[in-house]
Amino acid sequence: MGRLRIRNHGKIQAELRVQGSKNSSLPCLAAALLHSGTTVLDGVPMIEDVRTAIGILRALGTQVTVEGSRVTVCAHEITCTEIPPGFMRKMRSSVIFLGAMLARTGEAKAVYPGGCVLGSRPIDFHLEGFRRLGCEVNLREEIIEVRSCGMSGAVIRLPFSSVGATENLLLAAAGAQGTTVIENAAREPEIVELSRLLMRMGVDVRGAGTSRIAICGRAAVRDVCFSMSGDRIVAGTWLLCCMNAGGTICLERAPVQWMQSTLEVLGRMGAVIRTEGMVVECSAPERILPVSYLETAPYPGFPTDMQSQFLPVLSGAQGDSCICETVFSSRFRIVSELERMGADIEVSDDLTRARIRGGKRLHGTAVTAPDLRGGAALIIAAMGAEGDTVIDDFYHIERGYECIADTIRLLGGDACWIV
Ligand code: UD1
Repeated sequence: MGRLRIRNHGKIQAELRVQGSKNSSLPCLAAALLHSGTTVLDGVPMIEDVRTAIGILRALGTQVTVEGSRVTVCAHEITCTEIPPGFMRKMRSSVIFLGAMLARTGEAKAVYPGGCVLGSRPIDFHLEGFRRLGCEVNLREEIIEVRSCGMSGAVIRLPFSSVGATENLLLAAAGAQGTTVIENAAREPEIVELSRLLMRMGVDVRGAGTSRIAICGRAAVRDVCFSMSGDRIVAGTWLLCCMNAGGTICLERAPVQWMQSTLEVLGRMGAVIRTEGMVVECSAPERILPVSYLETAPYPGFPTDMQSQFLPVLSGAQGDSCICETVFSSRFRIVSELERMGADIEVSDDLTRARIRGGKRLHGTAVTAPDLRGGAALIIAAMGAEGDTVIDDFYHIERGYECIADTIRLLGGDACWIV
């Protein structure tokens, strides 16, 4: 299914349960490789990236069963140490299976990963970290081969607090002799979630959620049943749909404690936000206020994964806004599509800043999703636009959002697939 037509009928009045976190589920699925037992993950979203991760696990020889949002991985036997190229090219996160494979078998092979085109996305921190643990890393053409005859704990200082590198090294370090310390580690909730799973498996991890994490390798890992948290980016996306269409939305299973920076910006835009436990309710203001300056940053800063979704909403604000992207170099590829819908956004020559001119009512037209979060921005735009919006290359969005057409209908819009 490549194209989705969306039309909205006015204000939203809806209650939704937020799907499980994609960015937590992927490393937790990789962690199932660490031992020859069974790992049960509950609340896993049934999205394309998770299907890719399950494909990798099966290709490596594990038995995976899926019942609703429960995924059971029996990793009694690993029959292959190469992650198939088709999966690697589909999703950048495939790279975190390298760390888990190293911990389990001492070797792993893959081609360079694909995924959203958000600018240059090297994996040098991951590979340098493996070297520090005592691995031999061979790169030829696009093939990565990593091998060790026994990893040893080390102090690894990341040049930037990379989420993926922190996860990969946590997983690899679980198989290293002694203690590994990751300095300048990412502090994202997904690191906390992965570390919680590792601790439940019996691995000693300290400091997750801070920039210094210590992990003791070679623990006797046990079977575990673990529940994923709600997805903070998906929750934010539905809140922004409400901001653009107007009305009120109530989200259950929202990881409220991990959404503070997004909720704070929504508050500055005039939203009335109420939270209680894992429930967040958002009422859109009659007039959306502009945001004079917003900068993406690693957690707990404003997430780069949320900035595309703010662009259509700020286009309708009562004045101009500015967003500065500091994490990825090509995150404004969505701008040209939003401009086809009537937005007026000026991107600086160095592609780091967008000035969003407010006061624009967007109109529906044919647009193309350039990447996952840019695609989510188009759904938000469509829910506030006049007329029909047809979104092409919808597969990008299906990588991270489950049952999208059903959700749009729940929000009061029409959604139908065009084949
Ligand atoms: C993860 C998230 C992604 C999110 C991003 C930043 C998953 C599946 N994906 O991506 O949704 O947008 O964190 O919060 O969890 N870098 C290097 N060398 C490396 C690794 C990273 O230069 O070896 C750079 C990247 O090019 C980028 C920055 O570091 O500019 C951040 O990347 P990173 O935190 O690694 O993002 P991902 O783990 O790919």
